[in-house]
Amino acid sequence: MINKIAILGGGGLLAYSIEKVFEKKYDVFPFSHYELDITDRDSFYMLDDYDAVINTAAFKDVDKCESEQDKAFKVNADAPGELAGYCKRKDKLLVHISTDYVFDGNKDGKYGEDEETNPVNIYGESKIEGEKRIISETDKSIIIRVAWLFGKGKLNFVDQLIRELLNDKTIRLVSDKWGNPTYTDTVSRALMKLMEIGGTGIYHVVNEGCTTRYDMAVYIKKMLDIKSGKIVPVSKENVKYHAVRPIYTCLSTKKYTEVTGEKLKDWREVIKDYINGIL
Ligand SMILES: NC(=O)c1ccc[n+]([C@@H]2O[C@H](COP(=O)([O-])OP(=O)(O)OC[C@H]3O[C@@H](n4cnc5c(N)ncnc54)[C@H](OP(=O)(O)O)[C@@H]3O)[C@@H](O)[C@H]2O)c1
Repeated sequence: MINKIAILGGGGLLAYSIEKVFEKKYDVFPFSHYELDITDRDSFYMLDDYDAVINTAAFKDVDKCESEQDKAFKVNADAPGELAGYCKRKDKLLVHISTDYVFDGNKDGKYGEDEETNPVNIYGESKIEGEKRIISETDKSIIIRVAWLFGKGKLNFVDQLIRELLNDKTIRLVSDKWGNPTYTDTVSRALMKLMEIGGTGIYHVVNEGCTTRYDMAVYIKKMLDIKSGKIVPVSKENVKYHAVRPIYTCLSTKKYTEVTGEKLKDWREVIKDYINGIL
């Protein structure tokens, strides 16, 4: 029976939503990075009183992961592995958040959970290693792969876009790289559902609809009828990143629907919910 839930990476974008959604039904406590560093296993005793641990903490700066590889593997792989070992010993459920970047993005179609992973950068490599370490330590775990998050609690792509358009800026966005824009509240609710039905293993939890940052921005500008600002499409070839990015990482949520009987909403629908909530 799960009553008390610890959220690691408190202060982060997804953690904010998980706290708000879960606190209506559970006794939740978010631990900030300062309060509990997941790379310090001596601090795990602070989790002794909790029935479940949700780990949203990550080193997720994709470019910095290339130059700080040791840190990437320490935070995204070693620490989740240690945490899984701790949860196994103490008989706690571990929920861990992973990413669409575990795939190489070369497929012509959506990725299912069982498809071969093949990350193209250190961030993706460290995240898939984290998944593997957890699975090898404990069966009592849920790993959720998410993508392109937006939501309340922390400045994100959608907020920045609206702000820049209102300031009459010209924004250049990549129009040949695809993913699933995903509302953090969708992830939190889906996660609660999976926990309540006793789901374990890996699940893709993203909003339906595969798009580019450019098309996403054009949709938002039109939806809000913002006349100022300009959105210009650019090819990924013209954007200089330190890390290579996968091109097409749209995820299939078929498994989630089969297991829960629920369909996840299209990103265009939830973006309206989000924007109505912040305006
Ligand atoms: N955002 C996305 O679009 C996206 C896409 C795919 C997957 N994900 C995954 O989703 C999860 C949540 O992402 P998010 O967007 O909510 O990230 P976020 O806003 O950056 O939150 C992550 C939090 O983890 C904390 N943290 C970093 N290192 C830590 C450590 N060693 N110990 C404890 N806390 C630590 C960070 O604190 P500091 O700021 O102090 O470092 C931050 O508050 C991550 O696993 C990420 O890989 C996110």
